[in-house]
Amino acid sequence: MRTNQKKKKLNNRRQKAEKKIAAEKIDRYRKQEWKPGNMIYPVPAVLVTVTDKAGKDNIITVSWTGTICTNPPMAYISVRPERYSYHMIRETGEFVINLTTKNLTFAADFCGVRSGRDVDKFDYLNLTRQKAAKILPPLIGESPVNIECRVTQCLELGSHHMFLAEVVAVHASEAYMDGNGKFHLEQAEPVVYSHGAYCNLKQILGTFGYSVRKKDHSRICEE
Ligand SMILES: Cc1cc2nc3c(=O)[nH]c(=O)nc-3n(C[C@H](O)[C@H](O)[C@H](O)COP(=O)(O)O)c2cc1C
Repeated sequence: MRTNQKKKKLNNRRQKAEKKIAAEKIDRYRKQEWKPGNMIYPVPAVLVTVTDKAGKDNIITVSWTGTICTNPPMAYISVRPERYSYHMIRETGEFVINLTTKNLTFAADFCGVRSGRDVDKFDYLNLTRQKAAKILPPLIGESPVNIECRVTQCLELGSHHMFLAEVVAVHASEAYMDGNGKFHLEQAEPVVYSHGAYCNLKQILGTFGYSVRKKDHSRICEE
């Protein structure tokens, strides 16, 4: 009889504890539903260089960008038709994606809030024009990676038109290569854009495949 009472008490306590945990979880995971919008963050904030058919160049900051195919290597940028850069991409079908770093954050913001209609962004920011290998728009010398792209398709989606492009050349800065030719992009201090803020990537939390490499996994969990 006594043992039964003890068991009952224990059971009650456990049930109470479980209920408390469940209630806390509901609280912690409570969400608000927002109207449909763009909330995939962080994203890149790249400096895209463009040229019109007369040879005038410009820089536009673009966050709606990414890789779309490994082989053939393809990337995209989505640009509003009202941007000054838009007609340039339409005219030549070419652009360069220049990756941004801590040192290029000011430039990334500036090229995203000022128009080439009013200012020569290369001159204003004192950026270095480098000749591309396969296309007309210049590379930005200060950027550690420049990706030359040739447009294959333009999808007129709505507010933005999506330029699908083939990557025709990639340039990587030797300043971030070690003695074995391995490229250390993290040393260039890449920058991302997250819900209105430019951020750097301070800590490496794992490397590709670490979740299935027992040794690496335990090391990272300990840190
Ligand atoms: C962080 C950031 C990201 C941006 N991403 C895009 C984008 O993906 N597509 C776009 O059309 N405009 C984007 N913009 C806005 C353009 O960069 C901005 O309107 C710029 O002044 C256009 O330059 P332009 O008139 O010289 O072409 C972004 C601006 C910022 C600051």
